Amino acid sequence: MTIKKGIILAAGKATRLHPTSLAFGKQLMAVYDKPLIYYPLAALMAAGIRDVLIIVTPRDRKLFETLLGDGSQYGISIAYEEQHKQDGIAGAFIIGENFVGGDTVCLILGDNFFHGPEFDAILNKAARSVNGATIFCHHVNEPSAYGVAVLDANSRVTRLVEKPKEFISNWCVTGLYFYDNKAVETAKTLTPSARNELEITDLNIKYLEQGKLNAITFDGSYRWFDLGTHQNIHDAAEFIRDHELSTGQKIGCIDEAAYRAGFIDAAQVRGNADKIGNPAYANYLRKLADAAPR
Ligand code: DAU
Repeated sequence: MTIKKGIILAAGKATRLHPTSLAFGKQLMAVYDKPLIYYPLAALMAAGIRDVLIIVTPRDRKLFETLLGDGSQYGISIAYEEQHKQDGIAGAFIIGENFVGGDTVCLILGDNFFHGPEFDAILNKAARSVNGATIFCHHVNEPSAYGVAVLDANSRVTRLVEKPKEFISNWCVTGLYFYDNKAVETAKTLTPSARNELEITDLNIKYLEQGKLNAITFDGSYRWFDLGTHQNIHDAAEFIRDHELSTGQKIGCIDEAAYRAGFIDAAQVRGNADKIGNPAYANYLRKLADAAPR
C-alpha cells in the first residue's frame, strides 16, 4: 500500500525554548534560512505525499496559514486542525481521524530534521510498500532522551522503550512513522502514560506485538536532529549553512521538493520565486526552474 496522507504534529508547548517560543511555536522559528516546518514538510513531499494535515495550537493557526496557505502553490493540499491540550503524539491520529479516512498515513514530528545521501529515495520506496508500521531509527550516542529500539542482526525490532532509564541500545526511534489504516483505531485503545500522554511508542509496541513493525536504519552518514533545544537548532542551522554554502544545494526548500516530486512545474517555481523578497532564495528557485529537466 502506498502512503497517501501525511500529518505534521506541530502543536507542542516548546517550553525548553522559552523565552524564544513564548509568542509562537518552534516550528515557525528560523533554522538557518527557512522556517523549521519546511524541513519535515519537504520530507513528506520526498515521500510523494500531497495530502497534508498540520496539527497546530489555536494560538499559531493563523501564522501557519499565512506561511503555507492551502498548499496549492506547492501543488499539495494542506489542512489544519487544532490540538487544545498537549495529550500525546499518538493523539494526532484521533485529531486526524477524518483526515486519514480509509488511507495509510505518515506521521512526522514538526521538529524533526533529516538529511542524508539516499534519504529521499529510501523514504519514497518505503512509502510505496507499507505493511503494518515502519519506524526510522538513527544511531545516537545519548539515547536516553528518546524512544529507543533494540534490533536483532536482521534489523528486526525486538524491543521498544520510551526514554529508557538504563541503556538498551543506541538506536533512537526518530519522529517519522508510516502506518497502515489501523493506526487510528489502535491509537484509540491506548491509555495515557505516567506523564499523561498517549505515547507514540505505545502505539508502535502494539504493532510490534502483532509482528507488524518494520524498521529502517540510518547510519552515521545521515544527519538527524530533534530540534527541541537551542543547541540542536543551532547545530542544525550550522549544518544546513555549511551544506548549502559548499554544495550550492538547499536543504528543506519546499518549492524545490515540490518541483522534484512533480507536484509543480517550472512556471510555478518561477511564480513562487517572484513572491519571495530575498533575492538569493528567489534566484535559487529561478535557477532551478531554468535548469535541465528534473
Ligand atoms: O524526536 C523523536 C522523539 O520524539 C522520539 O524518539 C520519542 O519516542 C517521542 O516520544 C518524541 O519524544 P520527545 O520527548 O521529543 O517528544 P515531545 O514531547 O518533545 O514532542 C515532539 C514534538 O511533537 C514536538 O514538536 C511537540 C509535538 N507535540 C508533542 C505532543 C506530546 C505536539 O504537537 N502535541 C503533543 O501532544
